[in-house]
Amino acid sequence: MILDLINKKRLGKELSYQELDYFFNGYLNGDVADYQMSAMLMAICINGMSDEETFALTKVFIDSGDILDFSDLPGVKVDKHSTGGIGDKTTLVIVPIVAACGGTVVKMSGRGLGYTGGTIDKLESIPGFRVDLSDEEIIKQVHDIGLVVTGQTADLVPMDKVIYSLRDVTSTVSSIPLIASSIMSKKIAGGADKIIIDIKVGNGALLTRRDDAKKLSDLMIRIGKYYNREVRTIISDMNTPLGYAIGNSVEVLEAMDVLKGIEKNNTFVDLCYELASNMVSMCLDIPISDALKKVKKSIQDLSAYHKFEEMVHAQKGDLSKIKVSSKEYILKAPYSGVIKKINALELGKLSQSLGAGKVEIQDKIDYTVGIRLHKQVGDFVKEGDALATIFYNKSLPSIDFNNIYKFD
Ligand code: URA
Repeated sequence: MILDLINKKRLGKELSYQELDYFFNGYLNGDVADYQMSAMLMAICINGMSDEETFALTKVFIDSGDILDFSDLPGVKVDKHSTGGIGDKTTLVIVPIVAACGGTVVKMSGRGLGYTGGTIDKLESIPGFRVDLSDEEIIKQVHDIGLVVTGQTADLVPMDKVIYSLRDVTSTVSSIPLIASSIMSKKIAGGADKIIIDIKVGNGALLTRRDDAKKLSDLMIRIGKYYNREVRTIISDMNTPLGYAIGNSVEVLEAMDVLKGIEKNNTFVDLCYELASNMVSMCLDIPISDALKKVKKSIQDLSAYHKFEEMVHAQKGDLSKIKVSSKEYILKAPYSGVIKKINALELGKLSQSLGAGKVEIQDKIDYTVGIRLHKQVGDFVKEGDALATIFYNKSLPSIDFNNIYKFD
């Protein structure tokens, strides 16, 4: 039976719900071996899946663990997911904005394995910040202040954890039906009424082609319809890092600057506004143009920043103790020109080698290291101008300017 199913998928045929359930749950309980699941994943990767198969696989994933129910909490619960990228600290900005605009946000975020930390690692760079709230604490905090960002409490979609680890080492991560079922199962099991997905495309992202990002977007919207969840998507660039900071505490500080209105008029701020206004529009059921006005007002009157402070305070973090390493290296322009390209992937690798991201799951993140860019794509720089500050601790990795920057 196991081999028959692998063969069926290898031949590009459709698997039924029962067959997917049998095969994937067989893997979870040890009846299907790693090499057999690897062959199945590769067959899916090469031959794709029909919508019916993808909906069925999403159900198998959802049912593999707990399903959260926040229906007792007031308001529409909107969740956001990003397919990940370098310098992506949007959650830290948009969750307080949405709460300041009257929305309710329960955000369960993850840690990073890769170039930089995940949202939870970034929040842990605020000394004392608790990311292990119990269900009761989550519900109390949302009742009190309207927002919470914490690590996963329940055992949500354990199937995704094992399958994702195998995809990572079998070159099957970029399969569109596998990405869609992985993300959508977590959002649905996490109790979201409505969902916004930020699909990254570019050399620092899972998907490098815009037409693949569009296919993923359409598929996730169809999964949402099937499961009766409104899904909106944004396709955003990940060839260039998002914003100016890459790391953990440096990213928290940048998010705070955006919330205080100090950092504005750049592509990161634009993306935050676009995501936040979609979330507010979904939460309050208002047109996006009205939601955008509310979002901008929450920055101008500092209500979004105050929501962030309230959340940090409620979760026992101390913003006055946030630390960035005092060991700095200034990367200077070797000649004059206009910056044509800043390579997100190379800066991600640099940030990881500084210690801001993990290589192995057991590695410890250094919250204080990272990169702060001073210039963006399109800026003119003179020879000797500071392009970036590298905050390091142990030793400074070698930095190849030509790998990171292209000048006109
Ligand atoms: N993010 C996820 O959660 N799952 C994927 O498969 C890809 C990105």
